[in-house]
Amino acid sequence: MLDAQTSPAAPPVIRREDYRPPDWLVPSVALDFKLSAERTRVHARFQVVRNGDHDRPLRLDGDELEPVAVRTDGKARVDWTMDDGALVIALEGDSHWVETEVELNPAANTKLMGLYASSGLLCTQCEAEGFRRITFFPDRPDVLSRYHVRMEADRSAYPVLLSNGDLVGTGELDSGSHWAEWHDPFPKPAYLFALVAGDLHANRDSFVTMSGRKVDLGIWVTERDLPKTAHAMAALKASMRWDEEVYGREYDLGIFNIVAVDDFNFGAMENKGLNIFNSRYILADPDTATDLDYDGILGVVAHEYFHNWSGDRVTCRDWFQLSLKEGFTVFRDQCFSADQGSAAVRRIEDVRMLRASQFQEDAGPLAHPVRPESYIEISNFYTATVYNKGAEVIRVLHTLLGPEKFRAGSDLYFERHDGQAVTCEDFVLAMEDASGIDLSQFRLWYSQAGTPHVKFALSHDPAGCEAVLRLEQSVPDTPGQMNKLPMTIPLRLALFDPETGDCEVERLEILTEQTTEIRFPGLAKRPVISINRGFSAPIIVEGDRSATDLAFLSANDDDPFGRYEAMQQLMLDTLVGTLSNHKVDHAAVVDAVRKTMTNNALDAAFIAEAVLLPSEAFVGDQMLVVDPDAIKTERDSLRHALGSELEALWRAAYSAHAAEPFEYSPQAKGSRRLRNISLGYLAASAAADFAGLAFRQFEAADNMTDRLAALGTLANSDADERVAALDIFYHRYRDNPLVIDKWFTTQALSTRMDTIQAVHELRIHPDFTLHNPNRVRALAGAFSVNQQQFNLGDGSGYRFLADIILELDPINPQTAAKLLPPLGRWRRFDGKRQALMIAELERIVRQSGLSKDVFEQATKSLSRD
Ligand code: BES
Ligand code: ZN
Repeated sequence: MLDAQTSPAAPPVIRREDYRPPDWLVPSVALDFKLSAERTRVHARFQVVRNGDHDRPLRLDGDELEPVAVRTDGKARVDWTMDDGALVIALEGDSHWVETEVELNPAANTKLMGLYASSGLLCTQCEAEGFRRITFFPDRPDVLSRYHVRMEADRSAYPVLLSNGDLVGTGELDSGSHWAEWHDPFPKPAYLFALVAGDLHANRDSFVTMSGRKVDLGIWVTERDLPKTAHAMAALKASMRWDEEVYGREYDLGIFNIVAVDDFNFGAMENKGLNIFNSRYILADPDTATDLDYDGILGVVAHEYFHNWSGDRVTCRDWFQLSLKEGFTVFRDQCFSADQGSAAVRRIEDVRMLRASQFQEDAGPLAHPVRPESYIEISNFYTATVYNKGAEVIRVLHTLLGPEKFRAGSDLYFERHDGQAVTCEDFVLAMEDASGIDLSQFRLWYSQAGTPHVKFALSHDPAGCEAVLRLEQSVPDTPGQMNKLPMTIPLRLALFDPETGDCEVERLEILTEQTTEIRFPGLAKRPVISINRGFSAPIIVEGDRSATDLAFLSANDDDPFGRYEAMQQLMLDTLVGTLSNHKVDHAAVVDAVRKTMTNNALDAAFIAEAVLLPSEAFVGDQMLVVDPDAIKTERDSLRHALGSELEALWRAAYSAHAAEPFEYSPQAKGSRRLRNISLGYLAASAAADFAGLAFRQFEAADNMTDRLAALGTLANSDADERVAALDIFYHRYRDNPLVIDKWFTTQALSTRMDTIQAVHELRIHPDFTLHNPNRVRALAGAFSVNQQQFNLGDGSGYRFLADIILELDPINPQTAAKLLPPLGRWRRFDGKRQALMIAELERIVRQSGLSKDVFEQATKSLSRD
């Protein structure tokens, strides 16, 4: 079998241990662009300075570039060579001026890396290694330069010309062209370079920083989208204030611009002073964006803004340190979002997301540490582990140090490393130095892959009035890593009196050993334990709490996360119990949900999360062998029991939270969520009027959250209203690509048994295109997480996905590679499905001319270690 390490065709593996400082530094660079969609000229002029004592030539990275001209110190050179896309020039002295010219065709750039065209705009994406597709340059994050950028373009097609930093000049040229010059005073790595040219209009505002400087803010979109930028602007201003208040970080330029583009491989990008966003994370109004979209915009705008310090001012030395900026910044945006609404609900959502994506990754063939040791293609390492586990690791640090020391560590980090490209180790050292706390063992969170497990057992001795908690931690083997060391695990615990409901003990226990025993004296009655409260550590906790204890906690735990967790565990135990011994007993879950629904002390937003059943995928994660059909059947049956036995409660909630004029507030969001979950339970109860109810809601809704929820409920059903609603929805929004994405996704996520036919038809729908990553994810990405339908026993779901990956790879390898992980989950399924998934992976690997991106993901997914 082909393997990433041994295949003869295998592209080179880059290793962290091979890091070497750059041979040449580039203190400043001047870029001159003559822009046009099909023929753009790039002239680069920069100084190179030998770094250290060596006689190696200058090597300028390039990707699909051909030099039109090369000069050093003003003289034309012809003695350069090309090596693996890079331009290699021998240089005698220690300091030289280099000039190159290249020609690009942005309209033909379907990879969306480098300079490309999107809906009439020209824009760039350089992280991680896209700058080398624009000009020859040492494209690595530890080469920091001051950029001066001149752009020239046709004035009518490209009236707006933007780049990093400050605008320093503009002017007219003959024949309808114009120019603009931008200067960025902050040295930055090439991955933070950006330019945008196009017919854009700005929502302009301003922000006065804590030291009284005025910053001009602009959110640039097409004219017709201007009314949809208000929420993003409010999010930006809130983020700027929050970073001042919570981290003492002030914005540093006179201008901050954001541009929204339709074709984008990721969510958004933190280019210095010129963030570029996927339009889905900027544009919102009540008619077209759901509450989830509004939340996403808030979080992503904040995330990219926060990178101005955690990423731009202090950047990464090499790409193995990616979590230095991403983990920290995700932690920062999570805390920001928690502060803007319900912190408890936000934590529940973050943990659900971590479990759905990162835990699966950590348990499979693509598992890697938060700071990876090697890669073939760095784009494959923008993962849930680097991002979400990385954020949890920072949260662990925050818990270990406490808020004051953590802030002191963050201050020291920014002060010590401002203007530098550094490592995760530098971050931990700053935290250690500022707090005086030894973080030696904590560092294992960066190097050991795999989700730690903590087993617990609580015993009680009534005679001695003592409870004893025994804890045992272990970290599972992962590809290339065995026999791991015990980690520092901060566990928040509480013990409750089961009769009075009082909390008797609350503490933070820091596990450092493989086994820990904690004695709790003075307890006459056997207590109920609440463990890993607030999800204080990103671990899997295993214990055998009874249904009675879980029901007690779901009603009494004073930690909202603990309540949610107890309910989830109760639901999981019920489902897994039914799946393994076929004894159906829904009573405890029905009773606990009833109590939650009728508890007046809880808000709607929390109730909505608590009464939701764990996803089919999460149920599957608890099983030795995932049986998608049985899971769907049993989960539906529990849903039906909840729906019908509590029908009156769902009806009451449905009308109590009846639609009001739309408002984006935590309360209004909570009401919508609970109302729509109630509608879902009414559908599950098979209530005769549910389709009528859903269709009325679909038609009358004044916001996308309610309209889409109703559509989703209908799309899962056999009701006559289903086809009508899908059709009405399509025609109403056919000119809005972000909403048409939802139309694709709703059908791809349908639980109906004909979903595979539907996705085949959608694949050839005139609105489907492989050239827009959002559309690809809306169909193929969504379908691949539809557990039962993707895992059809005949393998047709796998084939559908593999076909798309193969067709997309030559167009956009990054986006193709991101679709691959669901096929790598074969170890979790029965033999028949395993063989079908492996066959698809092998078919992918056999394709000639496969990208590094897909090659790495597919070969690793096949490997049997
Ligand atoms: N720096 C990334 C964008 C990026 C990702 C560039 C991968 C190149 C490759 C940006 O800061 C980011 O992390 N964006 C996230 C959203 C964020 C809220 C987690 C994204 O694009 O998904
Ligand atoms: Zn980021």
